[in-house]
Amino acid sequence: MGRNILKDDLDHVARQILRTNDKGGYTVPTSGLYPYQWNWDSAFVALGFAQFDESRACTELETLFDAQWSDGFVPHIVFRQDDPNYFPGPTVWQAGSSIPTSGITQPPVAASVLNSLWSLTSSDTVKDRLAALFPKVLAWHRWFHRFRIPKDIGAVVITHPWESGRDNSPEWDGPLASIDTSNLQPYQRCDLNHADADMRPTQHDYDRYVALVEFGRGAEWNHRLIATEGPFRVADVGMTMILLRASRDLAAMARILGLDNELAELVANTDQLEAGIEYLWDQSAGTFCSRDTVTGLHSGLISNASFLYCYAGVATDAQHKSMAAHWARISASTKFMMPSLDPHDARFDHGRYWRGPIWTVVNYMLAQGFTEYGLAPWATRIREDSAALIREHGFHEAFSPLTGSGTGGKGFSWTAAMWLAWCGNR
Ligand code: GLC
Repeated sequence: MGRNILKDDLDHVARQILRTNDKGGYTVPTSGLYPYQWNWDSAFVALGFAQFDESRACTELETLFDAQWSDGFVPHIVFRQDDPNYFPGPTVWQAGSSIPTSGITQPPVAASVLNSLWSLTSSDTVKDRLAALFPKVLAWHRWFHRFRIPKDIGAVVITHPWESGRDNSPEWDGPLASIDTSNLQPYQRCDLNHADADMRPTQHDYDRYVALVEFGRGAEWNHRLIATEGPFRVADVGMTMILLRASRDLAAMARILGLDNELAELVANTDQLEAGIEYLWDQSAGTFCSRDTVTGLHSGLISNASFLYCYAGVATDAQHKSMAAHWARISASTKFMMPSLDPHDARFDHGRYWRGPIWTVVNYMLAQGFTEYGLAPWATRIREDSAALIREHGFHEAFSPLTGSGTGGKGFSWTAAMWLAWCGNR
């Protein structure tokens, strides 16, 4: 009884967060720190809205895809108005056509969300709107295959750490080290006005992020050029697992919609990505991880993204066995699962963004994958921990795996959405 009253209250707060962060057809991740529309945030947010307003859920995806470029690319940020309290804003990026946008992308979870929304709804109007999004999502997937999946690699290559959605993961430390920042113009960070510096990327990292934006702008966001000559080209384990899963989900949609040619294309894309997973297996560390395509070096790091192999539906028995040993070790040593970095790694920092904290959106994908992989106890642990973190600490951007305390922004849209769509379910 007490638990249910609390749940109803939290449901109410979660819906309020989404309504408050709704700026008119698109939702900001949180007020202050992130005042625009972010790509994968919007996709997860749509799952939250779908629990109480299916039409609004469709609108979230539609406004995101309104900013799609003619070549299929979908940007990581859509700038519908200028906000002087955010850096780097639209005047720095100088990208987009009808709507100003950033020039880099983010993990393509949209297809999987589309598929989930389809399963949830019984409304023909909603189904029509979802079906209208199908060709746009497919065009984005084609963009990945055209520009970001080199034939000899088969995995998805990112050209900026922000594309991974795991901005300051130590997976990028090695590849970032050689980025030249000597020509960087002076700039003012705004993120530190909204969040504690201990919880944010360091100045060293930020300089490299900005240098990469300047490189892209200098290349006039020519994606071919950036993908072949850019200073940062890393095959990302998270992005690859997510695109693989998204391709399967989009194929399922093609099957439902009776689109045979598209289905054949998506099945072929899925096969190609499946073959590319091998590139991301680091035999000496016994884990899936990101790999620098310039040097060929694996990061060797065990992150929450490494465990998305279940969500992607891949791994040999031997690989799974090795990952299961990592799971046993990590889950025995943290109060809450799943930290964004192995706590036994020297670079683990329980409060600093993607170097330790727990992210409920990644937990959601992990739990889905674990359930499908037949790992029910892992899925339960992840879901119960996520619910406990929100119940005890609120709707933060992320959470310490050691103490559970919230890190980063508050009143965070995707955490609210994950409560409504997943871990807050009775
Ligand atoms: C940070 C996160 C990224 C997210 C964005 C907005 O940049 O690392 O994943 O999309 O904030 O919430």
